[in-house]
Amino acid sequence: MKTIIEPFKIKSVEPIKFTTREQREEILKEAGYNPFMIKAEDVLIDLLTDSGTSAMSARQWAGIMDGDESYAGSKSFFRFESTVKKITGHKYIIPTHQGRAAEKILFSIVGGKGKYIPNNTHFDTTRANIEFTGAEAVDLLNETGKHPEIRADFKGNMDVEALDEFIAKVGKENVPLVMITITNNSGGGQPVSMKNIRDVKEVCKKYDIPLFLDACRFAENAYFIKKREKGYENKPVLEIAQEIFSYADGATMSAKKDALVNIGGFLSMNDENLAMQCRNLLIVTEGFPTYGGLAGRDLEAVAQGLEEVLNEHYLQYRIRSTEYFGEKLISAGIPIIEPPGGHAIYIDAKRFLPHIPPHQYPGQSIVCELYLDGGVRAVEIGSVMFGKYDKDGKLIPPPMELVRLAIPRRVYTQSHIDYVAEVVIEAYKNREKLKGYKITYEAPMLRHFTARFEQI
Ligand code: F0G
Repeated sequence: MKTIIEPFKIKSVEPIKFTTREQREEILKEAGYNPFMIKAEDVLIDLLTDSGTSAMSARQWAGIMDGDESYAGSKSFFRFESTVKKITGHKYIIPTHQGRAAEKILFSIVGGKGKYIPNNTHFDTTRANIEFTGAEAVDLLNETGKHPEIRADFKGNMDVEALDEFIAKVGKENVPLVMITITNNSGGGQPVSMKNIRDVKEVCKKYDIPLFLDACRFAENAYFIKKREKGYENKPVLEIAQEIFSYADGATMSAKKDALVNIGGFLSMNDENLAMQCRNLLIVTEGFPTYGGLAGRDLEAVAQGLEEVLNEHYLQYRIRSTEYFGEKLISAGIPIIEPPGGHAIYIDAKRFLPHIPPHQYPGQSIVCELYLDGGVRAVEIGSVMFGKYDKDGKLIPPPMELVRLAIPRRVYTQSHIDYVAEVVIEAYKNREKLKGYKITYEAPMLRHFTARFEQI
């Protein structure tokens, strides 16, 4: 088999800025050793997120020029609506400015005190939007998904038995909907199998509860099904995606991922009454139902992006390039969540730096080293992001200490990825010299964005 290449050629480029190690030492110190506080132009390769960072195609840019900016009934809305309907099969399509706006609207209506929303693993904004209403967000990930070192095909699967037991315990009237996140971002970008989606749907049917998808990375998930699940190897990815959505009564979507745009999202659903309530809230918070917080040109770009993302040469390149990056790290002995997920590589910081305990933030230490050595920006997903304090002010660490290297879509080439792998491998060679950090300032909520650190 020949090398799997980027399925595009480059028409427009954006220079990246090189800095010296001395400059980066100064920049990182100024930023309080928190890469969120570094100016993007001081980053050489930015793997902070795959969200809103995609390179748009020439056709998407053409769509931007062609966007219809009419307040009501814009032509771009109808193109957007028909594309989303083709993929999801859902009756009501409601545009929002990004994923969390869709979550906010949905959970303002179905959430509230005494309610529970199960998911394989809630993403932070989903959890926050649910908990903001007083409801409880519950993670029911299958056991293998919780072990970074176990290789399995569908580590994003929900624990179906646990779901059944959970609904029986809290009462079906207290579970307004069940969610599945595809792919499971917080669990390492791992896919969910069609069988699991079908089995979850059966449980939902038994209790008469709607199933919603958090569909940000639905195309990547559909491609994993094609590659890994028996019976799907010869099916077009569009049909696989259509089957996935056919089991769902609705979805929330951040178009900033698999719709290959810089902003956008939507809510889709089949229930007319729920759609009416969502549209009412949409008008108050986002905008008229045919633009929902977006410009007509954005809707045009989303529609085009949704068509491009289902191209199988694109998906082959996308999934293979993440896997290629993962394989390079694994062959150097670097502990990562295995197998590599769809949109990111997650370094297991506990095994990378066993000499740094969670309360000295091993993930932060790696993130700082990657910036210092190579100008690479990654993000800590461990005790800095999710740590809590007990009543004596002692850190309660989350189960895993991870560093996420998320790969923007169509932005970096194979040599950029080779370079990043070299930087990570270098950090691993020097791991015994890496030191822990302590927090010198933190905000009361979402502290990872603005915290300041000092090396110990
Ligand atoms: N759901 C999942 C699974 C996500 O990964 C995200 C965003 C959202 C919902 C919210 O969408 O940002 O458009 O409001 N994830 C980004 C990330 C921020 O870096 O993983 P949004």
